[in-house]
Amino acid sequence: MPIHYQINPGGPLSGEITVPGDKSISHRALILSAIADGRSVINNLLLGADNLATLNALRFLGVSINLEKSTAIIDGLGRNGLKQSQQSLNLGNSGTGMRLLAGLLAAQPFSSYLLGDASLSTRPMARVVEPLQRMGANIQMSPQKTAPLAIQGQKNLKAIHYQLPIASAQVKSAILLAGLYAQGKTAVIEKQLSRDHTERMLTAFAYPVEKGERQISLEGGKNLHPINFTVPGDFSSAAFFIVAALITPGSEIIIRNVGVNPTRIGLIDILRKMGAQIEIQYLTKIIEPIADVWVRHSALKGIEIPVELIPSAIDEFPIIFIAAACAKGYTILHQAEELRVKESDRLLAMATGLSQLGIENKLLADGLGIKGGKFKSGAVNSFKDHRVAMAFAIAGHIAESAVTVHDCENIATSFPDFLTSGRALGLQIGPS
Ligand code: S3P
Repeated sequence: MPIHYQINPGGPLSGEITVPGDKSISHRALILSAIADGRSVINNLLLGADNLATLNALRFLGVSINLEKSTAIIDGLGRNGLKQSQQSLNLGNSGTGMRLLAGLLAAQPFSSYLLGDASLSTRPMARVVEPLQRMGANIQMSPQKTAPLAIQGQKNLKAIHYQLPIASAQVKSAILLAGLYAQGKTAVIEKQLSRDHTERMLTAFAYPVEKGERQISLEGGKNLHPINFTVPGDFSSAAFFIVAALITPGSEIIIRNVGVNPTRIGLIDILRKMGAQIEIQYLTKIIEPIADVWVRHSALKGIEIPVELIPSAIDEFPIIFIAAACAKGYTILHQAEELRVKESDRLLAMATGLSQLGIENKLLADGLGIKGGKFKSGAVNSFKDHRVAMAFAIAGHIAESAVTVHDCENIATSFPDFLTSGRALGLQIGPS
């Protein structure tokens, strides 16, 4: 059932909230717990549709997982305990679920069939399948090199040294997961650092990992020890409210217990270059650093977004473009063609919606140029992309009058509590 939201313009945002658990870390916590020796307890797991798809896939592979609210009790089967699923594994909208499980399942002694929704079925899979094939995996894709993936698991994968052609934590993680089962030392070399949750998590599960400046390597064949772990709040969910407070005059908010892994917080650097007042108060660092984030309304100016910040802000561009639309002057982004193969073509989706709301912009092959202005009222197509939908909902808060965002149902993939959290800070948002 399609869900459309109407957002009415409103006043200053204030108060403090927490955001639900991190999506990327939740996927990894589930997958690694499933192959650890015994019971792991994962608190504050994100219960978004993406993570539930991974959780259900693991259940079909024989893993017992009990959910008590957002705590998952996972009885790991050990590295060789997964069983063949009697049915296809449906990863829904989740690229991370599909690509990480492709790496894990390529190395199991049974076959698996992975499929996804309409969006996931158009996303490129060769980026994971090709390096896995070099390790000896047997995986068939569609003729368009997309899902569904038919995997004939192979027991004797061989280790590879692989230089990532694009910055991608999903590709890196798929190779490392297959590497857990390969003979010899698997190494992944990165030109640009992508999010490092898999490496951190493996270390937490007591799996030996060598970390160089741009290289991660591990020997196959060792065991994982179960963990008791609390997932930090998702910085990528906090991002929407960080920008909302920055662009709404008089606002001051605090978001508590947010994961601030340095490979994830490029948004802060970009916004600070634009003139944002954001403070990070570091709290703890158990596997992942956690902080409270304080944000005040700030006058923003347009910038050229530094290319080196793209990987650490990769999921935040929809909301960065909303900040750019409120900035004085021109903001330009280049070398971001990866945005074309996310849950939607995010360059096209954002350019289209910005134009619908009266913001001048120029769509480029590898980026977007945006001239700061004032949002008019209107109706925006979210392209069924959760982050595009949330970004335009935030735009509605400071538009001239109401904004309608179509097809918001996929917000539930990453941030099922978006409405509740937004309303707690002062957003006026509801079904249209
Ligand atoms: C993710 C990696 C990124 C990111 C995605 C989550 C992960 O994708 O965009 O939302 O959890 O590893 P890429 O690996 O394609 O860059």
